[in-house]
Order: sequence, then C-alpha cells, then structure tokens
Amino acid sequence: MTDVARFLSSYPAYVSTSALDELRASEYGRLDARGTVYLDYTGGGLHADSQVREHAALLGAQAFGNPHSASPTSTAMTDAVERGRAKVLEYFNGTGEYTAVFTLNASGALKLVGESYPFEPGGRLLLTVDNHNSVNGIREFARTKGATVDYAPLTTPDLRIDRPAADALLARADPAHANLFAFPAQSNFSGVKHPLDLIDAAHARGWQVLVDAAAFVPTNRLDLRLVSPDFVAVSFYKMFGYPTGVGCLLIRNTAIATLRRPWFAGGTVNFATVQGRGHVLAPREAGFEDGTLNYLSIPAVEIGLRHLERAGIDTIQTRIGCLTGWLLTELQALRHGNGRPVVRLYGPATSEDRGGTVTMNFYDADGALLDFRRIEELAGRDGISLRTGCFCNPGAGETAGDLTEDDMRAGLAEGADLTLPRFLQVMQQRGGKSLGAIRVSLGLASTIADVDRFLQFASGFRDQTSSAVGALTIDDANCRVIRDGS
Ligand SMILES: Cc1ncc(COP(=O)(O)O)c(C=O)c1O
Repeated sequence: MTDVARFLSSYPAYVSTSALDELRASEYGRLDARGTVYLDYTGGGLHADSQVREHAALLGAQAFGNPHSASPTSTAMTDAVERGRAKVLEYFNGTGEYTAVFTLNASGALKLVGESYPFEPGGRLLLTVDNHNSVNGIREFARTKGATVDYAPLTTPDLRIDRPAADALLARADPAHANLFAFPAQSNFSGVKHPLDLIDAAHARGWQVLVDAAAFVPTNRLDLRLVSPDFVAVSFYKMFGYPTGVGCLLIRNTAIATLRRPWFAGGTVNFATVQGRGHVLAPREAGFEDGTLNYLSIPAVEIGLRHLERAGIDTIQTRIGCLTGWLLTELQALRHGNGRPVVRLYGPATSEDRGGTVTMNFYDADGALLDFRRIEELAGRDGISLRTGCFCNPGAGETAGDLTEDDMRAGLAEGADLTLPRFLQVMQQRGGKSLGAIRVSLGLASTIADVDRFLQFASGFRDQTSSAVGALTIDDANCRVIRDGS
C-alpha cells in the first residue's frame, strides 16, 4: 500500500473534503506550478487568485476617496467599509452583540485593549504561559498601572493550560477591581486548542476575557453566540491571505464602556479643541480607529470572508484534522536504524483538541539535537516553506524546552545585544538547551501531497549524523537581522 493509500484508509473523512483539492487546483495553482510546499499557514494564510481579481475589479470600477466625508467618492468608500464591517460581524455571528473595530493586525487589536484597559492596584491581569508576545506585551500596561500580573502554567508534555492552576488563579480576582484574563483560542506554538469554557469560568469569577483568536479562526468556526468573550483579536491575512494590513478587534457591546482610550487622534473624536484643551471621543468603533483606515483593503476582507464561506470552515477543519493526525502519527513513527526517534514533537501527540500547527526538533542517530535553522535551510532547498524559532511565543517555547528562570536570566544579562541567535549561543554554553524549534502549519489549501513531501524530507534525516547534516551556512552574525516572529 502506498503512503497516501494508508492515509486514506486511516482517515476516510478526508475524501469528503475533496472540494478543497479542486480549489487548490483552480485558485492556488501557483503553488504546484512552482513546486512550492507551503507549510506556514500560522505565519500567514494564502490568498485565492480570485480574491485578488475580485478586489482589483472593484477598485477598477469605481473611484474611492478617504471615507467619512460627504463627497460621492468618500461616501462610496464609507459604504464599502461599513459593508465590510457588517460582514465581519455576520461571519462571527456577533451582529447586535459585538462592535467590530478595524485595526492593522491582531497585534493592533491586542494593543488597543492593553492600552485602554483600566488596570489599577488591586486589579489583575492573568495570562497563560502559552501566549503570543503581542498578548504578553499587555503586561507592560498592567504593570505600569500597578495591577498584579500572573501567568497560568502549562502541563507537560501536552502544553495545555494547567486547569487546576488556572482555576486557582482565577479565584484570586477581587470583583471590586478590573480584572482581565487573556488566552489564545489556539496556540501558535503547539497548535493546542485551549478550552473556550474558560471564558464562562472566568466571567463567573469576576474577570473580563480577551481571546486571541488569530491562530484559531483560519481553520475553526468562532461563533460569538456560543461563546462570549469581551474582546477578540484577529488578523485577516491569517484567515485568507489577502489583504495584509487589516485586523479586527471585536468588542462585546457590554464591555465597550470598560475601555478608556489614553489619547485621541484624527477620526476618533466628535469634537476637539485646542484652546479649551478638551475632546469628545466618538462612540463605538469610531473612538478606536485612529487616523485613516486601510480603507481600500477593507472590501477585500468581505471578499475573503465569502471565499472562506464557500470553501466551508467545517470542511477545512475536517481536512486539517485528518492531515494533522497523519502527520503526527508518521513523525512519531520515524526512527533511526538504532530505534532512536528522528523527531521530538512538542504538544499533544494526537489531533484531539489541537489544530494543524505541529512543532518539533530533529535529532541525529546519536540523539544530538540538529540546529533548527539548518533544517529550515535544507527544507528551503527542497521548496518547503516552514518556520523556525520560538514563533513569538516564548512561554510555550520555554516550557517545551525545559528552560528555567536562571537560563532566561543568563540570556537577559546580555543586555541590549540579546537576539535569538545570541541567546542560542548562551544556551550552548549552558549545556545545549534549545529555545527554538521547527514549525509546520496547515491551512485551507493544504493537501496530503504537501504533508507527504514534508514527511519525505523528514525521513531523509534517518541514520544521519549531525556532521553529515552539516552546519548552518549563513553566518550567525547575519542571523541578527532575523527577528523571532509570528
Ligand atoms: C496566536 C497569535 N496571536 C497574535 C499574533 C499576531 O498577529 P499579527 O502579527 O498579525 O499582529 C499571531 C501571529 O502569528 C498569532 O499566531
């Protein structure tokens, strides 16, 4: 039996998603035309050809001006922006209950909450160790305003939120103060889907809840009638590739008055005076959208959401579940001739309650860790695009790599010169621990052929020694320009 035949007999549901193979051929043909294996959907989704064509046709048919004025070109743009906003709310089933604020990206949405949240002494910010840095960064606003910051730990090796520990931390809130709990619906490091019932559990204990849905919504349905976080952050390019430069903060209408903007800008005020040194903030989304929106791109959000609806988010989720299950099984089965594993996976070993993001490190036949940057380099030569580093999620990386507070302090002692490559050198001197890994992530246009190509690449490391794999050919010094991202 071929590998693909074995896959199909293990995951018969994959056949029910064959419409996505047709979509791959008709809309993403540039991948196969160039032999590209794209495995970085958590970094960024890919756009369908028709999304760009439809957007270009719209821009070509009409003149659009800066919105929010009375001219015909401005009104046309205002209408298109508001149609986009309405579509976003409809897509997430939040119409009437939520307000959609357009931002630059998910980080912009998270920052809006961080800078506007009324942190205060006596109040709390609870984060999970598994969080993107754009959520971790909110702790700086909380600290500055005197709130207590805590982290809920992860279990190992599954990298799931330690529920008893999280419950104990949630129980510490004083409801007389503002308390914010922020967690990702899906980890961008391990692919773990964290339980959304944490939202109700936190509400019941006096917290408001910020869900970072950036890595979750590209392959899962988020229905705001079923779960009711106070704030949700997303980036649209992660969902459907195009446009970049537009994200969204969804604010539950009952939570909007909690946020207090620390400044005002063009577009956010109904009135402002210089002599009177005062301003009146605009209500709802307008009070949060600083300056001129990326207005020409917003109609492409509506086009992208319709594309996702046509593809079918449930079909995508089914396909990702099949491909991820297969990838995990095959990677774990990959052994050197002496029985040692080729790959160490981080996070859950099965596809249950996890998405299509799979993070790992490679080891040689003697059990020596292979440099993840070298693996990325070799993958690139095979036309495979994957991502390495710690993916802007240091907490999950530290837990996965058994790094201690002392290890991190040794890195921080490097001061302003500290970069990820420099940190790796420091860890080499401290016994060879690694903060960093290889991540492959699947999405809308992924096929079994993509997964198979990666598995073939991985099996090429069987019985290899680290000297045969070779060292990174780019100088470490050059790595300074490669920042850890996404
Ligand atoms: C879970 C998660 N949150 C937030 C972000 C930040 O998204 P952006 O860079 O689009 O602001 C990312 C990006 O990878 C992510 O995966």
